Amino acid sequence: MKTRLVFATNNAHKLEEIRAIAGADFDILSLADIRCHDDIPETADTLEGNALLKARYVRERYGLNCFADDTGLEVRALGGAPGVHTARYAYPDRHDPEANTRKLLRELEGQTDRAAAFRTVIALLTDGEEHLFEGRVEGRIATAPRGTEGFGYDPVFEPEDTSRTFAELGPDVKNRISHRARAVARLVAFLKQRAATARTADGL
Ligand code: IMP
Repeated sequence: MKTRLVFATNNAHKLEEIRAIAGADFDILSLADIRCHDDIPETADTLEGNALLKARYVRERYGLNCFADDTGLEVRALGGAPGVHTARYAYPDRHDPEANTRKLLRELEGQTDRAAAFRTVIALLTDGEEHLFEGRVEGRIATAPRGTEGFGYDPVFEPEDTSRTFAELGPDVKNRISHRARAVARLVAFLKQRAATARTADGL
């Protein structure tokens, strides 16, 4: 039997990515699939807190096993900012990816330390338990945007061991090494292990 889980997102790109990694043993539903059209609050001051808030929201209202993610860009010279404020870095009340990137480049003008990391946290709520999974990719912030692929901060983020940005590397490379891919791989390994243990316990 398939393991059914809600992913607390309506981002089609993220859904595709996780369905591909999870494989045929998992039935992953989006918020739209369960007819949840709410603007789920993300008011915590950590990535872990926000991922848990979103997953608990679905669990409490719909009674379904689910997981949620939250991602932040942590820049060393900015003391870890924008961090939990990554999506609304330029404007507190809206998500403007180009303005976010411009603000980041402005804040780092003249700065030689350009080290940064993308970090994704996934919170899984299943059978009354809460589990957290983290994925991280180290890199640096370019001095100007380059590349046309991807989204968000991709044109200014150069992952370690390359001088190209995520937006230049394209989806095949990015989906192998990204923060989200690493967190998702940990989640899927956990779910597969759990499903195998349950099958053994059932004598299947
Ligand atoms: P979310 O938690 O996935 O919604 O992401 C929070 C913020 O980080 C948004 O501004 C995204 O644009 C940005 N972000 C998340 N993942 C990536 C990525 O892989 N590349 C570039 N920006 C990202």
